[in-house]
Amino acid sequence: MNAPALQGLEINAPDYVKHPRLLAWVADMVALCKPDRVFWCDGSQEEYDRLCQQLVDAGTFKKLNPAKRPRSYLAWSDPSDVARVEDRTFICSEKKEDAGPTNNWMTPTEMRATLQPLFDGCMRGRTMYVVPFSMGPLGSHIAHIGVELTDSAYVAVNQRLMTRMGRAVYDVLGVEGDFVPCMHTVGAPLQPGEQDKPWPCNPTTKYIVHYPETREIWSYGSGYGGNALLGKKCLALRIASVMGRDQGWLAEHMLILGVTSPEGKKYHVAAAFPSACGKTNFSMLVPPPAFQGWKVTTIGDDIAWIKPHADGKMYAINPEAGYFGVAPGTNHLTNPNCLASLHQDVIFTNVALTDDGDVWWEGLEKDTGALPAHLLDWQGKDWTPEDGKAGRKAAHPNSRFTVAATNNPALDPQWDDPAGVPIDAFIFGGRRSTTVPLVTEARNWMEGVYMAATMGSETTAAAFGAQGVVRRDPFAMLPFCGYNMSDYFQHWLDMEHKLERMGHTLPNIFCVNWFRKNAEGQFVWPGYGENMRVLKWMIDRIEGRGQGHETMFGIAPQYAEINWQGLDFTPAQFEAVTHIDKAAWTEEFKLHAELFGMLAYHLPKELLATKAAMEQHLAAA
Ligand code: OXD
Ligand code: MN
Repeated sequence: MNAPALQGLEINAPDYVKHPRLLAWVADMVALCKPDRVFWCDGSQEEYDRLCQQLVDAGTFKKLNPAKRPRSYLAWSDPSDVARVEDRTFICSEKKEDAGPTNNWMTPTEMRATLQPLFDGCMRGRTMYVVPFSMGPLGSHIAHIGVELTDSAYVAVNQRLMTRMGRAVYDVLGVEGDFVPCMHTVGAPLQPGEQDKPWPCNPTTKYIVHYPETREIWSYGSGYGGNALLGKKCLALRIASVMGRDQGWLAEHMLILGVTSPEGKKYHVAAAFPSACGKTNFSMLVPPPAFQGWKVTTIGDDIAWIKPHADGKMYAINPEAGYFGVAPGTNHLTNPNCLASLHQDVIFTNVALTDDGDVWWEGLEKDTGALPAHLLDWQGKDWTPEDGKAGRKAAHPNSRFTVAATNNPALDPQWDDPAGVPIDAFIFGGRRSTTVPLVTEARNWMEGVYMAATMGSETTAAAFGAQGVVRRDPFAMLPFCGYNMSDYFQHWLDMEHKLERMGHTLPNIFCVNWFRKNAEGQFVWPGYGENMRVLKWMIDRIEGRGQGHETMFGIAPQYAEINWQGLDFTPAQFEAVTHIDKAAWTEEFKLHAELFGMLAYHLPKELLATKAAMEQHLAAA
């Protein structure tokens, strides 16, 4: 390694950064991207406030009315940059089969040759921010470190809320600790004297690139969400899933919650749902009055890293430290804890601005009983209820809040525990208006893996263009698995044997669907806090209570096994959300066959055998 002190001087590194490989990498990236200056983030409040003010001065942020939303800001993005870009997301493994049919792929050599000219000089006229972050509690044996180099101050301040970001990370890294290098540019270099835009990005060229073998992330052209906050989907899921495969652990698109009984017994559940299925709502669930004494607490709302432990349990941490949640639809009915989290110290992106300097999104009218008479929409245009009637949304359907987990009144006391929390159950669910029952329990690990592998979800406007189309989303990992999906299934199957060898009691696995509709197209199950009733049934199952009844798709609750106190939900309604329809499942299995056909390379044979057994069971019913 070359003399680090000299490199440290050239890039103005603070003397507390003592990691030669990191310093050399920053120097190389400065030489490539040619920023005007380098800014090393220390993660302090003072630095955060200063960068936020800088974003206000640049027109990226509007400071919200401090009497309404203390220390909070609103950003409106470029209309071309409003969501993750899955079609521009690449897994660049050496071999195509290692990325698999669910990922875009190019060889690393070809991709590096493509990106090199794009990154050359991409930060001209801008500042390069060096953003050190820990995914997971600092120093936890389950955590991993990343360093993001970005030319976006918006990214730097969001990362302070979303991760453990700042100077303490260098203490964990020491002189030779491992970190994932994360390169990010908005892809909009400035010519001398050129006026910057409030939301710089590259309107035509975007690349979100992962090199799984060398564990690198390179992101070009977007400043939005998962495209730019590289700790989240890029590191904590795509790169971490590969680490998990290689090192024997799991990186999952799962919330983690704690449930405590009135007797004080605590359970921990990790639940995978595709985007736009209410993960944040479920992770912050408020039990209905009939469940007096029960408490649900949030460990995480989006991602779980789960490692087997010698004590026979799997321990999970939330690698994130904040929530980057979808704002529309959030209100007192759907998620009171989330709403309470948003009172202060929030960055909002693409929601509407009220005339008194506060924020608004569709769904808040359910709390106030009325639409605001006038707003500025997410593009800064006047909006009135007439526009709403004409179908023009005031907030973008994928508008977001960024907020630190510590704002959440339901935050679990162990959310930051470096040891993690022991997982008692996995839940897999999707948004299906038909076919999939409210809840069933897998009879064994294999059946649970089958349920997860064949999950599907009807698309919503928030995530994708077309509405109501079922997109197969195995384990809710379709856009987030950093390697071949069939190998990922195998990794889950191997985990069973590995855990058994270690003397583990395996977590129970459940499949849920909150979204069945009746013939009139209305949701039958009330959802939200009422999901506690299903959660309680799961706990009964964990405790070995209740007979349930056998179905083709696992063990279902009997009507009488659910606590209905305080909810008028008839046996007929229960039948409507739990019925296994033979014709619908015959069609469903054809779609499973289609999925397995697409994933044929390395597909574990056991999945086909499980499918055949379920089909036989269905035929005999
Ligand atoms: C998210 C997603 O934003 O899954 O969490 O899309
Ligand atoms: Mn997610």
